[in-house]
Amino acid sequence: MVTEDVIVRTAGPADATGIAAVYAPVVEQTVISFEETAPDADELARRMLARPRLPWLVGELRGRVVGFAYASQHRQRAAYRWSADCSIYLDAGARGKGLGRALYERLFAEVRELGYVSLFAGVALPNEASVGLHEALGFTPVGVYRQVGHKQGAWIDVGWWQLSLCEAPPQPAEPVESVL
Ligand SMILES: CC(C)(COP(=O)(O)OP(=O)(O)OC[C@H]1O[C@@H](n2cnc3c(N)ncnc32)[C@H](O)[C@@H]1OP(=O)(O)O)[C@@H](O)C(=O)NCCC(=O)NCCS
Repeated sequence: MVTEDVIVRTAGPADATGIAAVYAPVVEQTVISFEETAPDADELARRMLARPRLPWLVGELRGRVVGFAYASQHRQRAAYRWSADCSIYLDAGARGKGLGRALYERLFAEVRELGYVSLFAGVALPNEASVGLHEALGFTPVGVYRQVGHKQGAWIDVGWWQLSLCEAPPQPAEPVESVL
């Protein structure tokens, strides 16, 4: 369970410094992210405001960002516009207490509300916690890109998981953007 002290809320550019602090160790010390240089707050604020604008959420514990989750465009070409990717990162001390589920449940509800139909998650393998989270939230495996990345001296596979946010409508309405 998420403790009473942790709140989940919409993130804005003012949270970019806190988000950068959560993300930097993942980039610098693990192969979970395929980035090699941790983005600074300015770069994260720019990503938050990217178009089409999609939701970013933070988990906050007594005023400190301890985790974040966001959705982003899946691919640029027009026919992909009802599909989004999702990502989530928590401080080591905030894991295993329900915050991942809380962030994702709210993120998915918001993305569904915008008119998106499918969500995708790429997971550098192995990552038991991430696979467990995605499958607990209803994602099903799509397939594996083998040796698609090389980081920290090793080739890495990325598994893809998919969640249908709704029954795909034959004539989907245009998705709308989230409002900060
Ligand atoms: C992956 C991550 C976001 C999970 O968040 P979390 O807060 O630890 O997960 P929760 O406590 O909300 O658990 C949610 C579900 O995930 C599953 N899960 C969580 N940790 C797990 C683990 N170590 N092994 C297996 N399943 C796990 C649980 O089965 C749980 O299911 P339930 O809610 O039905 O009980 C978190 O571990 C993390 O930030 N890891 C490092 C960054 C990362 O790997 N991000 C994903 C990149 S693809």
